[in-house]
Amino acid sequence: MPNILDFSLADFFYNDNPDVLSPPEDFEEWINHPRVRESFRFFEQQLLEAPRSGSRVWSGVDGEKRDIINLTSYNYLGLSTHPEVIQASKDALDKYGLSASGAPLLSGTFDLHVELARKLAQFKLQEDCILYSSGLGGNMGAMQGILRKGDVLILDEKSHKSMVDGGTLSGAKMFFFDHNDMDSLEQKLQQAKGKRTLVAVEGVYSMDGDLVKLPEVVSLCEGYNAGLYVDEAHSTLIFGENGRGIGEHFGMEKKVGVSFGTLSKAFGGVGGFVCSNAKLIRYLKGYSSPWNFSCAPSPAVVGGLLKALEVATRDSSLRDQLWKNVRYLTDGLKSMNLDLGGTQSQVIPIIIGSSGEKLMQFAAELQRRGLFLQPVDFPAVPANSRRFRISGSSQLTKEQMDSALNIIEDVIVKGLRTGS
Ligand SMILES: Cc1ncc(COP(=O)(O)O)c(C=O)c1O
Repeated sequence: MPNILDFSLADFFYNDNPDVLSPPEDFEEWINHPRVRESFRFFEQQLLEAPRSGSRVWSGVDGEKRDIINLTSYNYLGLSTHPEVIQASKDALDKYGLSASGAPLLSGTFDLHVELARKLAQFKLQEDCILYSSGLGGNMGAMQGILRKGDVLILDEKSHKSMVDGGTLSGAKMFFFDHNDMDSLEQKLQQAKGKRTLVAVEGVYSMDGDLVKLPEVVSLCEGYNAGLYVDEAHSTLIFGENGRGIGEHFGMEKKVGVSFGTLSKAFGGVGGFVCSNAKLIRYLKGYSSPWNFSCAPSPAVVGGLLKALEVATRDSSLRDQLWKNVRYLTDGLKSMNLDLGGTQSQVIPIIIGSSGEKLMQFAAELQRRGLFLQPVDFPAVPANSRRFRISGSSQLTKEQMDSALNIIEDVIVKGLRTGS
């Protein structure tokens, strides 16, 4: 008889409950177990202020409202609270109201949407751009719009769920290659020979912070005549001399067939965008349901995003500050001999190993000490590499980083050493 505590969310996907509106019975038993409930305290905690580097949270750990140092937000450049961005968003709100009140095709396209799409395409050195209301919708919609039954989608095994779901929706056959392993990618390309094939990778992998081996991926795609799709969710505005992303970082922008980005991370807003050649974007508009059949992004957000793009690209100061902070944090963590995996970016994992119990115990203590650093558990990451994941921010002050490093040393380093 298996112990219910050995289960995880990976175990309840298939549901044999005869009542289709009820979850599996053992799921109820599992989710209501006190130890499982305890681990869910960390999720959906309520932020009571903007996601600045210092913010306030209603802690799920003990129900206290407390000031925290925030190492968990994707507001990498602080643009979500930048005064010029807020003002531009307010202006757009006054002029256009809260909602686009329609799908882009019929009634939801405003001059602001057209301007943002044009500027993003220019920024990415691509011919055109399509905007979505979410990043997830953008990836799903692009995959669904580009691929058909009989095609092949080859994905890195660590690809974001939105690309996997998009592949499923498209009906294309999906192959997964070992993470960043070019021999494994080539093997899959061999298997796909003779089929229309799209290879999808991420610029910065979101759980590990390592970079795609873009030059090798480009050369394999060229060799096998496959299209290349790059998800730049965590690299746009952060990598490259002008912040254009991982394509620019490797000097290979022209080799990227489709460049995807989300507007919810460094841009500080919400939404997704896909840039490519004008013919493909035109075609996508016919077959991409999250664009075709969903309300366009809120004009108040789009107004803020136009300003965010301007602020982030008029000089490199925010990006420079982010990288300075990332170096400071990474050096501090390395000096404590913590396992940071293969990070090369502002996404910095602290891998603590296979103990889910320790992960949750450390997470609770970090939060009691005023550090908002969320645990990442299996199945989101492999069971032997449970972790915390730092998101660096240009907003972090030296004092905040020093305090955070002290708390991490007290809780994680000492906890790992004493085995407590
Ligand atoms: C790599 C990657 N792609 C796409 C997305 C989806 O973006 P959004 O949260 O803006 O919907 C995410 C979000 O975490 C991501 O990490």
